[in-house]
Order: sequence, then C-alpha cells, then structure tokens
Amino acid sequence: MDNLFYPGKFEFRMGLERGEPARFFRSHTGDDALLAQRQKILTDHPERHSVLLPEGKPLLAEFARLLADWGTAAKPPTLGQDLAPDFLLLAPNAAGMPVLLGGCVCFPSSWAFEEKVGRPLDWIHAVVPTLNKKLGEKARGFLTKMPVGQAWLRANWGLTASPALNQHPALGLPVLTPDIGLGDVWFRIERQALVALPETGGILFGIRLEVFPLAEVRANEPARLGLLEALQTMPDAIADYKNLTPARARLIELLG
Ligand code: HEM
Repeated sequence: MDNLFYPGKFEFRMGLERGEPARFFRSHTGDDALLAQRQKILTDHPERHSVLLPEGKPLLAEFARLLADWGTAAKPPTLGQDLAPDFLLLAPNAAGMPVLLGGCVCFPSSWAFEEKVGRPLDWIHAVVPTLNKKLGEKARGFLTKMPVGQAWLRANWGLTASPALNQHPALGLPVLTPDIGLGDVWFRIERQALVALPETGGILFGIRLEVFPLAEVRANEPARLGLLEALQTMPDAIADYKNLTPARARLIELLG
C-alpha cells in the first residue's frame, strides 16, 4: 500500500505501470466470496450496477474472447456475475474522447455507475476538482493510443467510514466525522487495469478493490507517512471531493 504515495505535495498522477491482462482478470484468492456478493447485488439492484448500451455489445463480445484467451471462465451474458473485478467498456467518439458504453460495477467508491453510462470521460471526470485540467488531455491521449497486448495498471485510494465494498451513493452509508476513532476508518485501494480492445477499437477498464483497516496503514511506516503527507497537503477542494473535510484534522491526529 505504500507505493500509492509519492514524496512531496499531494497531486493527481497518471501513475501507469505495465502489467499482464491475464493476471489481472484471472481468478484470485478470495474471488469466490466476491462472486457471491456480486450475485446478490445484481439480483437486488441490477439497474444500478450492470448496463450495456447497444454500441457496447461488440466490445463486450471482444472482452469475452480475450477472457477465453487469457484462460478465465467467465462468459456473457452473465459476465458481471462470473467475473470478480468490476469492468467498464469505452470507445472514442468522433472527437477522440472515450465514451462509457457499459459494464458491470458492483463495488463503486461513492459514485453512481448508471448515471455515467453514455457519457464522455471528460464529463465523468468533471466532478473531480482539477483532474481534467491537470491530466485530462494526457489521459485521453493515452487511452486512445494505448499499446495493445498489455494491461496498464494504476490505482486510486480513499478513506471511508464503512468496510462495505459496494459504496453506491443510494445506500446512504456512514460518512467520516470529526470524532471518528481508529477502528472506524477503512483505507480503500482501487487497483485499475486499462486494456486496449484492438478489434473494436474499444477500451477495457477493470477495477479490483482492496480494503484495509486504518490501523494497518498506521502500522506500515512508509504508508503511514505517505498518507499523512497526502492528508496534510491535499487542496481543500480535493479533500471535499474525497469526503475527507470533516475528518481531515482527526485523521491527521490518528496517523500522527
Ligand atoms: C489514465 C486514465 C485515467 C486517470 C489518470 C484517471 C484518474 C482519476 C482520478 C485521479 C480520479 C479521482 C479519484 C480519487 O482521488 O478519489 C478519478 C475518478 C474517477 N474516474 Fe478516472 N482516470 C482514468 C481513467 C478512467 C476511465 C477509463 C474511467 C471509465 C469510465 C474512469 C472513471 C472514473 C470515475 C467514475 C471516477 C469517480 C468519479 C466520481 O466520483 O463521480 N477513469 N479518475
């Protein structure tokens, strides 16, 4: 978890590393429990978590072919239930901006997948302060020219007041408050894989989650120092977006 932080003031980064798509999408220890949760989520609220526009169908078919090549068992149409990672499918529009055409997101970090489908990436990222200005053009350029045959790995992190994997806004989960204790906070890592779909020209975006009690971050010295520095130096607007403002001073105290 310590490799999520960079020395110096907090800033958003591309943070891309090369990886293997098969390794990301094939079965991991613990996936069975995730699959059981996904089945329940998709039964209770399918419309929030699994959407595919007609234009996304060829991309899903290509993804299914790649999964077979990579030696994973999942097959459409139940892809979302058979696959442990969340996945999103995008394709560039006439202006070269990737547009979200569908996917299956059972474990969102406080965003509503179903409201983003059909939208271009710059619209989706517009709620994140400074992101489009800082990395928008770089991210768009990268995504539309991604070298094929490879996964491009990056990560986002967050702090939450609940260990629940599914943090869809409609669930109204508890939020971080100024009097929170060490045992009430979880550190959430979204491990992401970006993969080019060469036949359709699409983009596959996979997400796997890791959730740790804050006490574990506190016990890992490089991670503790990295998170502390991020909390101390993050611009207010970004802290607001990450739902950290009411608890920021308390979190700094807990990690200090
Ligand atoms: C290289 C490409 C990308 C970069 C550098 C990037 C970067 C980021 C960053 C820094 C955040 C803020 C996370 C936080 O600190 O809490 C974010 C949020 C987000 N990104 Fe990306 N992203 C990329 C690609 C994508 C793609 C392909 C999608 C697919 C739709 C996507 C969807 C989202 C969503 C849904 C959010 C949360 C927005 C919300 O809260 O409503 N991103 N991204």
